[in-house]
Amino acid sequence: MESIALAAADKPARYRELLPQISALLDGEPDLIANLANTAAALRACVTAASWIGFYVRRGDELVLGPFQGKVACVRIALGHGVCGTAAAERRTLIVPDVERFPGHIACDAGSRSEIVVPIFRAGRAGPGDVVAVLDLDSYDLAAFDEADAAGLAPIAELLGTLAW
Ligand code: SME
Repeated sequence: MESIALAAADKPARYRELLPQISALLDGEPDLIANLANTAAALRACVTAASWIGFYVRRGDELVLGPFQGKVACVRIALGHGVCGTAAAERRTLIVPDVERFPGHIACDAGSRSEIVVPIFRAGRAGPGDVVAVLDLDSYDLAAFDEADAAGLAPIAELLGTLAW
């Protein structure tokens, strides 16, 4: 794999093109950190509106910074706090069009204006298990993320749920 190749201009098609490329990147590689790092880089190529893309991994009652693309960021977020901690605690994707309107938003980068956070559930035979991490994308633009991002990121999060957490 040399680079991520995306021809489409519209979001749903770009995510559709991205998914098999991420799948190919992860295929046969058991190392969790390597896989998260390459996924963050692949997403960076796809989601041009994002200023920061990365993972917070669950460690007990906290989320701890994982592989990411972007500026240095907050290291620890308590479950239930900020957009990331809320998405993890509520086990659902949060789209925040204006972070200033999200009570408790944690500003790692004062330039961030909007955000999407997608929980990653440990894959299990009986369906989604515990939240093992969240995938966080931030943007300097207001309302950069919408349902098309949530729909496009969902199968990526599902794929990541099968990794060696
Ligand atoms: N804004 C996030 C914190 C993570 S950084 O933006 C990278 C939050 O409120 O959870």
